[in-house]
Amino acid sequence: MSVNVLIAFYSRNGSTEALARAIAEGAKSEGAEVRLRRAREVVTEEVMAKADGWLENARRMNAQYEEPTPADAEWADAIIFGTPTRFGNVSSELKAYIDSLGGIWAQGKLVGKAGSAFTSTSTPHGGNESTILTMYNFMAHLGLIIVPLGYANPLVFRAGTPYGASTVSGQTSTPPTADDLEVARFQGRRVVQVAEALKMAAAAQTT
Ligand SMILES: Cc1cc2nc3c(=O)[nH]c(=O)nc-3n(C[C@H](O)[C@H](O)[C@H](O)COP(=O)(O)O)c2cc1C
Repeated sequence: MSVNVLIAFYSRNGSTEALARAIAEGAKSEGAEVRLRRAREVVTEEVMAKADGWLENARRMNAQYEEPTPADAEWADAIIFGTPTRFGNVSSELKAYIDSLGGIWAQGKLVGKAGSAFTSTSTPHGGNESTILTMYNFMAHLGLIIVPLGYANPLVFRAGTPYGASTVSGQTSTPPTADDLEVARFQGRRVVQVAEALKMAAAAQTT
């Protein structure tokens, strides 16, 4: 049974974007249809221009990825959220997208879909786990069935977290390691497998 996957992410410097693309590869390798969408900035270009590279990176990514919409979330059988950490928490940009889901949340339209999350931090203990766990909060409110990684793949013993894929970008936006990307691909595959099982169970209940 084929499933639809929405990967809704925010990235300023490209680390979270690289994980998002690896998750998309993993999901597609399991036969899923994938929408890769980048949440948009919530500040003006004047503000963005004050941080090195922000405006340029945003223009590049916004040309490449559409903005996520509530209709994308409704379309999806699984939603995978990605954000760079912001003081151990979700970025305002991704959160603004989550808040836009209030209308379909009120109609119960997201209940029972698979949900999962990933992140990027600049330091090893700068909030990898807390950022993903913060996303577990809104996934619970949306009624998603949260899909962690556990240690189902031994790679998680040396990269990512049992809560979801992650990478440490350092002070100079170091790209994710090969292991980080492989954990992300695993997350994509695993979420698709769970979403398929959920979809089959829902179909069996209605027949
Ligand atoms: C306002 C702000 C707060 C941040 N807070 C943290 C933090 O708490 N811990 C950390 O390790 N990195 C923090 N960072 C760094 C980014 O999360 C980190 O560089 C991340 O890898 C960037 O991901 P990206 O390349 O997808 O934009 C912060 C960055 C900004 C701009």
